[in-house]
Amino acid sequence: MSRSFRVAPGGALSGTVRVPGDKSISHRSVMLGAIADGVTEVTGFLEGADAISTMQIFRALGVRIEGPQAGRVTVHGVGLNGLRAASAALDCGNAGTAMRLLMGLLAGQRFESTLVGDASLSKRPMRRVAEPLAQMGARIETRDGCPPVRILPVERLHGIRYRMPMASAQVKSALLLAGLYAQGETTVIEPAPTRDHTERMLGGFGVAVERDGEAVTLRGGQPLRATAIDVPADISSAAFFLVGASIAPGSDLLLEHVGMNPTRTGVIAILRLMGADIEVRNEREVGGEPVADLRVRAAALRGVAVPPELVPLAIDEFPALFVAAACAEGRTVVTGAAELRVKESDRIVVMAQGLEALGVEARPTPDGMVIEGRGARAAAFRPGTIEAHGDHRIAMSFAMAALRADGELTVRDTANVATSFPGFEALARSAGLRIEASAQA
Ligand code: S3P
Repeated sequence: MSRSFRVAPGGALSGTVRVPGDKSISHRSVMLGAIADGVTEVTGFLEGADAISTMQIFRALGVRIEGPQAGRVTVHGVGLNGLRAASAALDCGNAGTAMRLLMGLLAGQRFESTLVGDASLSKRPMRRVAEPLAQMGARIETRDGCPPVRILPVERLHGIRYRMPMASAQVKSALLLAGLYAQGETTVIEPAPTRDHTERMLGGFGVAVERDGEAVTLRGGQPLRATAIDVPADISSAAFFLVGASIAPGSDLLLEHVGMNPTRTGVIAILRLMGADIEVRNEREVGGEPVADLRVRAAALRGVAVPPELVPLAIDEFPALFVAAACAEGRTVVTGAAELRVKESDRIVVMAQGLEALGVEARPTPDGMVIEGRGARAAAFRPGTIEAHGDHRIAMSFAMAALRADGELTVRDTANVATSFPGFEALARSAGLRIEASAQA
């Protein structure tokens, strides 16, 4: 059953919130814990549908996993060669990260696997992973480049040196995971920096990973040693609150324990270019990942030309950033963001339609958007109904838009918010958003 949000206009965000655990790191904690020797203890795990899909898949592959219970997960690793064939297709749900990283991890196994996903995932491109894996000797079948994905058994993969045509952490990670099962070295070259959680976490599990400029290399056959992982709060989930507090006059909000990996902080850099008031406090390192508390206060934002080099570092935050741009003084131009078209929805089309429905001039371009901001003085959005198209980040971004609307906003098709942000409505309400969720009529 689908769900929708009704959000009354106005209000401000204040107090202290801790958003749920990082989705990227949660997926990886189960994957690497599963193929490690020994028991990996995870805390701060994201109890959202995406990360749970990954847990269920590894259970089906013969790994004993306890939890999640209050963010705790215990993974009883089976070692690099201890996974066994599942008796049915492995369901990745809405999670592109699960499917693409699993393609890499399963490509080098001596058993067959099939990966399936929901309607949105079934439309997403998998060739970007299947092709380089085939170069490593993997045997992978897709349906015209999309799921379901069938991975046939192989004796052994071999390492390759691969220059990615797009800046994708999922492709990089899939190849590095396959590289663990390959003879010789696997090198992935990225056209621009992308999130490096896989490399960092592999290091934490005792695997030697070398970084040389834009190239990452690992040698196959290295065993993983179990470890403890403390998952920071997801900066991608914090982003909705960073934007909400920036655009709503009178806001003063503290976000605790936010992951500040430099490959993920593009949203802070872009919001600051727009004039946002974000203070980084209490910087520390937790389990190999930088973490900080963020204090954000309302500010008069201005439109910017977003520097293309920041795009991969904020790739999941553009739905929220487009809402910020609509509230800014002047024009915002985003370029170099064609990857937005192959996320959980085509985020360029769906965001432009939603903004237009709320009276904002938003022009989609092949690789970005041009938004004419309404400025800090007027209400930025008129009342209306938005279709989230099952995309969690679209739904949460438009929920925050109500803070600057002059009437009620209805956001439809919001059930997938639970993939990355269980408890979003309650947490947002506690901070001051006038949001009600209900079963969709
Ligand atoms: C992710 C990488 C990004 C991001 C996704 C999570 C990851 O995807 O959009 O939400 O965990 O590696 P791409 O690698 O396709 O850019």
